Amino acid sequence: MINQQTTLFKTPAPFNLRLQVRYFNASEIAALFEGQDIVQGLTASPKTLPAQYFYDDRGSQLFEQICELPEYYPTRTEAWILRHYAAEIAECTGACELIELGSGSSTKTRLLFDAYQAQGYPLHYQPIDISAGILVESARQLLADYPTLNVQALAGTYEQALSNLPPSDLSQRLIFFLGNSLGNFMPQECDRFFAQITTVLNPGDYFLLGVDLEKDSDVLEAAYNDRQGVTAAFNLNMLAHLNHRFIGNFNLNAFHHQAIYNSVDRQIEMYLHCQQPQSVQLKKLDLSIDMAQGESIRTEISRKFNLEQMQQYLQAQGLSPLQVWTDPKQWFGMILCRR
Ligand code: TRP
Repeated sequence: MINQQTTLFKTPAPFNLRLQVRYFNASEIAALFEGQDIVQGLTASPKTLPAQYFYDDRGSQLFEQICELPEYYPTRTEAWILRHYAAEIAECTGACELIELGSGSSTKTRLLFDAYQAQGYPLHYQPIDISAGILVESARQLLADYPTLNVQALAGTYEQALSNLPPSDLSQRLIFFLGNSLGNFMPQECDRFFAQITTVLNPGDYFLLGVDLEKDSDVLEAAYNDRQGVTAAFNLNMLAHLNHRFIGNFNLNAFHHQAIYNSVDRQIEMYLHCQQPQSVQLKKLDLSIDMAQGESIRTEISRKFNLEQMQQYLQAQGLSPLQVWTDPKQWFGMILCRR
């Protein structure tokens, strides 16, 4: 069986036959509601902005830089877990359609590909990312490095992509959600997210989750206030993105980045503090707001979890935990579940 597959794919099909891309951002319905979440957030008190607007092409590049920062331990710790245990994951699930939420550069995904390939499983990959630039660029690099890989890339929000998933070629699916992106959802958003995940998965399908674990607040705050200022640039880039996309006039120089750990809610909170009063317009959204000196916009939360509680939560959502892996310091966790 394994040999047959290898011969079948001896001459890899050209890129264009192994890559399909679907874009959801430009759909009419999306355009109609686009930015309503911004209006809601900026007119609320205290002000917030939705985290998805971090990821224009520049934001995605900055995020890749964050992942390499000495202070930002999550990426390398999660990669350590995958390097050590991806083979166990592949063995456990068998051949699966590999569906990744928020795939970005797909760097860690390669560790999963290597494991599935080593088992002789076909590589079918459906990456989902809101930033079309990095999605397509990464897909091309993956296709060059994995000659038997097939990619169906979906550019859009998780909701758009999950409700329009192309039919799988393989009989089972593995949806994976790495990098503690789940921690960027508020509790109610988590519930809604899992309701959609369990609709998309058939009984017997798999879900793999990477979560950041509770730890010393100094370690946490350092990870989101790096010394080189990349996280600050990333945070401020959201305003640049909004200025560009919705014809706005946020004065970036008047905002200051700060991340603090809220030990009651067990979450990092990312803020942009306004340092001089300004009136902000976003013309395309017909929005006009005044910001006072000292007023803040919360742009992101990053919740930190407890492995036991997370397993109970997943179980309650209809996803039974099969196995859990962590690193020697227990800073990050990975949970494989079955629907
Ligand atoms: N999922 C990442 C996390 O929670 C997102 C992230 C990392 C992030 N660094 C950030 C979001 C800085 C905003 C700002 O760790």
